[in-house]
Formats: sequence, structure tokens, C-alpha cells
Amino acid sequence: MNAPLSTHASVPRPGPADQGGTATLPPGPKAGPLSQTVAFHRDPLGYLAHQREEFGDVFTLRLLTMRPLFVVAEPAAVEALLDSDPTRAHAGAARRGILPFASPRSVFGGDGEAHRSARERIAAAMSEQVIDRRRSEMVEIAHRHASQWPRGRPFRLLSRVRTLCDEIFVRLVLGVRDEKIAVSLTEAIGRMLRTPGNPPVSLPGKGDGLAGELGQKLFEQRQTAVVRELWRAIEDRRADPSDEIDVLGCMVDASPALGNEEIVDELMSLLMAAQEPPSIALTWLLDRLAREPQLAQRFCAEPQGEMADAVVRETLRLRPPASGILRRLRRPMEAGQWLLPLGATVLAPSTLVHRDPRTFPDPDSFQVGRWLGDEAPSGPYFPFGGGARRCVGEPLAHAEIETVVPTILELRNLDPISPRPEQMVQRATVLVPKRSLLTRAGL
Ligand code: HEM
Repeated sequence: MNAPLSTHASVPRPGPADQGGTATLPPGPKAGPLSQTVAFHRDPLGYLAHQREEFGDVFTLRLLTMRPLFVVAEPAAVEALLDSDPTRAHAGAARRGILPFASPRSVFGGDGEAHRSARERIAAAMSEQVIDRRRSEMVEIAHRHASQWPRGRPFRLLSRVRTLCDEIFVRLVLGVRDEKIAVSLTEAIGRMLRTPGNPPVSLPGKGDGLAGELGQKLFEQRQTAVVRELWRAIEDRRADPSDEIDVLGCMVDASPALGNEEIVDELMSLLMAAQEPPSIALTWLLDRLAREPQLAQRFCAEPQGEMADAVVRETLRLRPPASGILRRLRRPMEAGQWLLPLGATVLAPSTLVHRDPRTFPDPDSFQVGRWLGDEAPSGPYFPFGGGARRCVGEPLAHAEIETVVPTILELRNLDPISPRPEQMVQRATVLVPKRSLLTRAGL
């Protein structure tokens, strides 16, 4: 779907950016927070496109999890926001507002010095050079998983791919070598983050009243097994150090030293960031390539080639796994003709910005050609975010795409049930296929 850009966008509004600081804020839908939340989660792209048509490139949503949430789709403001952490904005505080379980001392939920040192601690283990050494093991894991998927009957591709990615993460990135711990940790992570179906709103947490207390309890219960297994993995590594560069090694060798509790706390947030987006990306790619066998052939022939790269870019443009980037402003920020106030939580939605006809002509059509040749699109494109908060797992995501996707396509004949790609729905901060991509798989 392609909503035209509003003519309202160019009409000057009484905003502080041109009036020296009045209290007027960008407009937004009048509906109450519950109905805004449900509508946004059911059809994020349609809902955001409708608001942009109505209010222009900058508007205000009131969601159950975030009131108000300023949505910015104006290209220059999006670029500025991408680069705003840590001096002008913080990502961790904004993420914790929506995902109250993210730890303020982690890469994902931390800010300032806490964020910088947490990121530095795991940088070596997440580097392209180290991740690339794991490619053949990724192929083995993908092969084993895909050969066990059901034959002939429909199944949810996203759930299967998620389990596969969990195992890659536990064995190859965390570096859990003990077989028993690796198996039970992978299972426990799957149970912890599994949500039954696709709830129309994200789970509440601390600070969300009674529902939040219940959400927090439920999450703590689900966490128990993961905490126990992570603890065992840390003890195991302390007792038997390894020369391999992996996340467990980086954590137990950290200086100043970290206790088990601190390590578990950081790893929990890393797991939350690491689980969903790569499995969603792989699932959409598999869906696209299952529908276009000739493209699949070219992708598998050269998964690190220019054409495969263009397929990945175009898939992540139309189906970005993360719904955008979030920042909490540390100083007022201009966005179009608005001046957003200090403390505002701002979302730059990739869903919408990636379909902006000013940057991507004929934005709703899948065209790998726009990434080939000399003239790449010039406006914001940010499936992995940007600036100091750009995704730390990007090399891992690319290695998974380039190893797991061809392995599956060469082994199984995927046949998505829905005649058209499933609609995207919002779950917490990610966008998932509505029915988790129901598919059949032949031999
Ligand atoms: C295709 C797969 C993936 C996509 C599309 C994706 C997307 C993103 C996005 C949009 C952000 C926010 C960036 C920002 O705010 O500017 C992010 C952050 C993050 N991602 Fe990923 N991600 C993917 C895979 C992974 C993997 C495999 C890991 C594993 C470790 C991971 C770990 C993280 C972490 C820890 C952060 C926080 C980084 C920081 O704030 O410094 N991601 N990711």
C-alpha cells in the first residue's frame, strides 16, 4: 500500500520551531490510547501511513506503552535522529519505556557510559572477522533443523527459524560448548520469548499498573530457566576457560570483573535484542525467494554477491524486522516545522520511511534493481538503525542470511500457504508476519 504524502506537510503550523518556543506539539489521532494501540499493532504500516496522510511527516501517537510517542518521518529529521545518541538523545531510556525488561546496564537498554562499556565488552565477539569463522557451523545447524521440519503439513516458519537462530546464538555466539547446557538453554530461550499467537498489544511490564505487575511476574517466571542455564554456562566457562573469542569469554574476562548476576543481567537483554529480528529477516527472505524461484537460484548461486545483497536490501526495506529507531531527547529537536521538547520519546518508523516515494520511487513494489548500479537511493534507509546505536549484531545477521537461507532453500521446497505475502503486525518493537508465515515444505 502506498499512501500519498499529505499536502498538509508543507503547510506552516504554529510550532515552536518557527515561533520561538510555544508549547504546541504535533497533532495526532483523537482516539483513546487503547484503540490507537490496537489499531497500530494490527496494521502498523496502514495505520502510520494514514496518520501521515492526515497530519504530515511529524505526528503524535498515544499508546498504552508510550504517551505521547512522537513519530518522525521527515527525511532530514530522521537522519538527524539516527545520529543523535549519546549527545542529543538516548536510545536505552526510550527502549526501556517500551520494553521495561531491558536492563539499563546492557548494550540494548543502557545509555552513556553504561552503554559504551557494555558494547565494548562484547565488540570482539560480534565482529565480522570472528563471526565469519562460524559460517560452516551455521550451515550444519541449519541443515539439521530444516531436515526435521514437517513434511506435507503446514507449519509456522517463523517459529522454526527462531529456534534455529537461538541455537546458532547459544552455541556459536555465546559459545556454550557443554552439550546439555546448550540444549536446555536453547529450549529455555524459546519458551521465555514465545508469545502465544500475535497479541494486538505488547506485554505490559514494571510501571504499567496491575497489568504491568502481572506481566512482570509472568516474565520473571519464564526467565527462571534461562537464568539458571546461563548461570551454569558462566560457571562452566570459569572452570574451563577457552581461547575462542565469544560472548561468554568476553564477559568472564571483563575488566573490571563482573559477577555472575551482572553477566546474566546483560545477557538477558542481549538475548531479547538478538532473537527476533534475525529470525524475522530470514523468514521474510525465505518467503520472497520461495515465491520467486529464479531469484532464489541466483541468490543461492552467490549468496555474498551483488544480486543477493540487493535482494536482502529490498526485502529489509519493505519488511524491516525492527519497526524503527527510538530515542529519548536530551535536548529539544527540530523535526520539520516542529520543535520536539526535551524528554520526548521519538520514533523514526522504518516501515513508513522505507516507503517514502521521495527516496524510493514506486515504493510498494519489490524492485531489486534499485540497489544495483551506480545510483543507490539517497534518502534514509536504516533496517539496522544508525550512529552509536547501530545494531551490534549486523555481521551475525548477514552471516546467518548468507548461510542459512541457501541451506534451507537447497534442502526444502518451501510453499507459503498465503497467496500473497502475509501482512506485517507489530509485536513490541518488531514487525512479524501475521500468521508467523504459515508454509508447507516439500523435500
Ligand atoms: C536482520 C537482523 C537484525 C535487524 C534488522 C536488527 C535491527 C536492529 C535495529 C533497528 C536496532 C536499533 C538500532 C538503533 O536504535 O539505531 C538494533 C539494535 C541492536 N541489535 Fe539488532 N538487528 C538484527 C540482528 C541482531 C542480532 C543477530 C543481534 C545479536 C546480538 C542483535 C543485537 C542488537 C543489539 C544488542 C542492539 C542494541 C545496540 C546498541 O544500542 O548499541 N541484532 N538492531
